[in-house]
Order: sequence, then structure tokens, then C-alpha cells
Amino acid sequence: MQRLYVVGIGAGDPDQVTIQAVKAINKIDTFIVIGKGVEKQELLDVRTAILGEHAHQQFQVIELPDPPRDRRPGDYPGTVDRWHAERAERVAKLFDDIDGVGGILVWGDPALYDSTLRVVERSRFSGEVVVIPGVTAVSALCARHGIVLNRIGESVLITTARKLREGWDGTDAVVMLDADCAFLDLPDDVQIWWGAYLGMPDEMLFSGRVGDVGAQIKAARDEARARKGWIMDIYLLRG
Ligand SMILES: C[S@@+](CC[C@H](N)C(=O)[O-])C[C@H]1O[C@@H](n2cnc3c(N)ncnc32)[C@H](O)[C@@H]1O
Repeated sequence: MQRLYVVGIGAGDPDQVTIQAVKAINKIDTFIVIGKGVEKQELLDVRTAILGEHAHQQFQVIELPDPPRDRRPGDYPGTVDRWHAERAERVAKLFDDIDGVGGILVWGDPALYDSTLRVVERSRFSGEVVVIPGVTAVSALCARHGIVLNRIGESVLITTARKLREGWDGTDAVVMLDADCAFLDLPDDVQIWWGAYLGMPDEMLFSGRVGDVGAQIKAARDEARARKGWIMDIYLLRG
């Protein structure tokens, strides 16, 4: 393989696929899908639908199962690093075996909390890598709530629930990758703009003071996760 497109496809709404992404998608002979397991079949279905709608050329899809991963390890950075190394090894072998132009479709934007570009770098792929930006979950959240991400002249931190639990200095923050409603430990007066399954049929939105809407969000989140088997949510906090 000589060229690899890493294409951001937006946060879930198929209409968020950009024209630049569509043009790239049409140049790809082999789509590589890094498998995430059955519980996220719906996410794989979104990718399949995007290809069905936008790819007009002959192409093949190769699914590469993820190596197994310990989700709550003692040594988090070390475990993730080893997992990435193992994944990179599998990817490198696949790149060697593929002819023509390859492509990886990435949720949201490849530059935000996504390991694809790191895996590609670690695979030591010697061909050209072309990155196509996508609409992030952060943009989708703000758009659906109709809000500006930052207050006038202020900073915004983009972080994870893991980091939030370690402590928060009150800087406006977007929190991603929350497995368990980390905002419930915050003071009641903190403002939250929360969204799940943004751009997808089951989209949910809540906003207000944590003290007023926190329990409602948790109940809605628990119900949806139990019903669907997975959830992706994101929120903006202002102290
Ligand atoms: C591995 S990160 C990928 C982020 C992605 N690269 C982006 O640009 O948005 C996954 C996290 O993004 C957020 N996320 C992605 N898509 C989302 C969606 N449709 N609705 C709500 N949150 C989403 C959630 O916080 C989820 O835990």
C-alpha cells in the first residue's frame, strides 16, 4: 500500500461527512476497520451506511479485530501502550499485504482522543498518510445545545472523566470518555450541557445545574445503556 487516508467521518450523523471526506472515500480501494466488538455494532453500521451512500468505486473492507484489552488496569499508561504496540503490529502486517490505496474511517476527528494516527505512526508505514478532519463530538454537542464552546476570552479544557475525578480547578471543561457520570461528584451549582448518541436516532440532551439535572441524566443514561448495550456521551461544564 502506498497511500493511506485517515478520514474523520463526524460524530454520528451521516450528514456530517464532509465533501473532502467523500472525495477521499472515493479514492480508497481497501477500507480497514479496526473492530471494537459486538456491543458497538451500531457504530460499525454507521460506517457501512456511509460507504453505501458515498463510495461509488469498487472497494473491499478488511476488518482487523482489536487485541484484547484490560479496561481497568492498575498501570493504565503502560497497558494502553502495550495494547497500541500490539495493534500497530497487526496493522503493519495488513498494510504490507494490501495493494493500492487504503483508508481508515475515524469517528469524529482523527486528531481528538483517537489512537488511529498513533497506531499508523507506530506501524512505521512508509507511504503517504493523508488526514481528513471531521466534525468532533465537541462541535456536535455545542451545535445541538446551540451554545458557544468558550465564554468570551476564556479557556476551555478538553479532558476525560478519569482526569476530572483526579480534580478540577473550575476551568470550563469538555469531558469525554466518561463510563460512569463523573459529574455527579461536582458541586450542585456547576452548569452542565450533556449529550449522548449525538447525531444518531437515540440522541439525548440535558442541560442545567448539576444539582437539578444530574440525577435525571444518570437515570436516562443508565436506561439507554441497558437497552442498547453501549453509550457515548459528552458534556461541557462551567463552574
Ligand atoms: C474515543 S473518543 C473519540 C472522539 C472523536 N475522535 C471526536 O472527534 O469526537 C470517544 C468519545 O467521544 C465522545 N463522543 C463521540 N461521538 C459521540 C456522540 N455521537 N455522542 C456523544 N459523545 C460522543 C464520547 O465522549 C466518547 O466517549
